Amino acid sequence: MIFRQLFDPTSSTYTYLLADARTRRALLVDCVFERHARDLALIHELELELVGVLDTHCHADHVTGAWLMKTELGCPIALASAYGARHVDLPLAHGAVIPFGDHALEVRATPGHTEGCLSFVTPDRRLVLTGDALLVRGTGRTDFQRGSAHRLFRSIRDELFGLPDDCAVYPAHDYEGRTSSTIGEERRYNPRIGGAVREEDFVGYLENLALPHPKLLDIALPANLRSGEPADGRVPQEPDWAPIVTTYAGIPEVSPEWVALHQSDVHILDVRARSELEGQLGAISGAQSIPLDELRAHLADVRSDKPTVVVCQTGKRSALATTILKNAGMRVANLAGGMARWRELGLGG
Ligand SMILES: [Fe+2]
Repeated sequence: MIFRQLFDPTSSTYTYLLADARTRRALLVDCVFERHARDLALIHELELELVGVLDTHCHADHVTGAWLMKTELGCPIALASAYGARHVDLPLAHGAVIPFGDHALEVRATPGHTEGCLSFVTPDRRLVLTGDALLVRGTGRTDFQRGSAHRLFRSIRDELFGLPDDCAVYPAHDYEGRTSSTIGEERRYNPRIGGAVREEDFVGYLENLALPHPKLLDIALPANLRSGEPADGRVPQEPDWAPIVTTYAGIPEVSPEWVALHQSDVHILDVRARSELEGQLGAISGAQSIPLDELRAHLADVRSDKPTVVVCQTGKRSALATTILKNAGMRVANLAGGMARWRELGLGG
């Protein structure tokens, strides 16, 4: 199984991508609206087919990227039926099984943080995604969204602590950078619910946390009840001057074929050393030449009346140049594959 843990530093949310290596079928769990381009790029680069976008619960601290992913890839949205959220194709309840190729996730109801919280367990009991029920050395809070410390105690004790000791625990959040734990570890060392704790100890602890109101609650909850669909129903636009694909590495790229057809609409910047321009690959006619090692000192010389497409030999140095120009606020994309690819495709100019 392919398993990736992704992080959103703004909300400290973990997103999980699980895929079957043979069939390439994949599930994405707890994706974040603002990280949509990153998640999509990884799915494309790993050549996966997303067969479901799941949320462990209706989040209060970030907006889900589920609707964006469904809009882009057509995959069904899965969420606990308890919330009655819009755009949900697979309303989930305890006992449901969500297959992806030769693998699956089993749904366990673990309410308490919210009334609809779910955990997802692999059938071999080696991995559980616990959402905000059980965290690494912590638990979710229970003071809003019809939370209940009593219910959370029973959810963790009955549904999660019954899993094997070596079952890996992957939570929806961690604020200290801790990535995972195991059921055995949490059963022993969790400061809220580990060891010989009794229900009243746990409830007393949670009822006295006195945590501040979640900053995004008033925005995130209504948005998540629409599965993350923006209020105006519009997909946020990537830069619209070209069909740009942002790679998982974060580089905006544009295809050589598109550039060849739209040469007059863009400004081409070649960042190879001047001596390379005379070489076998030649250069695209009309391209401005500023070698990469001079670029930072000559940012003001880069023409800005049109969007810039940056080129080098194979697209690597130009990727760095693209980042430099992007950080300087310019409309810019990297020419995928560089001059080598350009010539391979027999493009002229
Ligand atoms: Fe939560």
